[in-house]
Amino acid sequence: MRRPLLAGNWKMNKTPTEARVWFAEFLEANPGYAGGAQTAVEVAILPSFPLLPIAAEQLAGSSVRYGGQDVSAHDWGAYTGEVAAAQLADLGSTYVIVGHSERREYWSESSELVAAKAAKAMENGLVPILCVGEKLEVREAGRAVAFTLEQLEASLTGINLATGEELVVAYEPVWAIGTGKTASAADAEEMAAAIRGFIRSRYGEEVASNIRILYGGSMKPTNTAEIMAGENVDGGLVGGASLKVDSFSQMIASV
Ligand code: 13P
Repeated sequence: MRRPLLAGNWKMNKTPTEARVWFAEFLEANPGYAGGAQTAVEVAILPSFPLLPIAAEQLAGSSVRYGGQDVSAHDWGAYTGEVAAAQLADLGSTYVIVGHSERREYWSESSELVAAKAAKAMENGLVPILCVGEKLEVREAGRAVAFTLEQLEASLTGINLATGEELVVAYEPVWAIGTGKTASAADAEEMAAAIRGFIRSRYGEEVASNIRILYGGSMKPTNTAEIMAGENVDGGLVGGASLKVDSFSQMIASV
């Protein structure tokens, strides 16, 4: 059985002071996560890099996981502004987002670069949360599934999966991010099923049945249960609604 995962992508938000308060308030509001025992819903927070040492300190001993929003495809060296997978791992990260549509769009990241980042993350024991998803014009042209599977295939170039637990896929339709528009539960499930089918054809049944597929794009307390009801939707990658302890806690409770 796949364990549901709700991952909060904080994007470029919060000072270290605000992050410290969020973590403390979250563990107070969700005491089941404080003691480190396995919970029904896995929770992870992906804050910006300077907040990771705060996460490491505040979340120590809890079952809340954390990680970065991006990672370099290189090991080490003269790459100003980049962050190495080994640095994220040494800080106790579990996950790292790769290929978020904001990085693909504003930093022109190609799927090949995304695949190299995912590979580097895995080499360092991190679980990449690999994002894929179409823009509105692609959906309107009826090509959402075909486009997203092509993007996924290219973003998995050279990636070998043995169990399906080494990587998470997040389907984030670009038109639903930060816009208040969500894909319908049926559209999210259709895409998640197509992604699982692709994974099955490429990596076999075991990987396909273990790999977790998240939905992302304007998820909030009122739509979480419905979106996650889809048999192939294993959780969410949550932007805006993860910034407040209240709304994020409500989402966890509704799963
Ligand atoms: P919103 O939940 O703010 O729409 O953001 C989704 C997202 O991009 C998560 O990675």
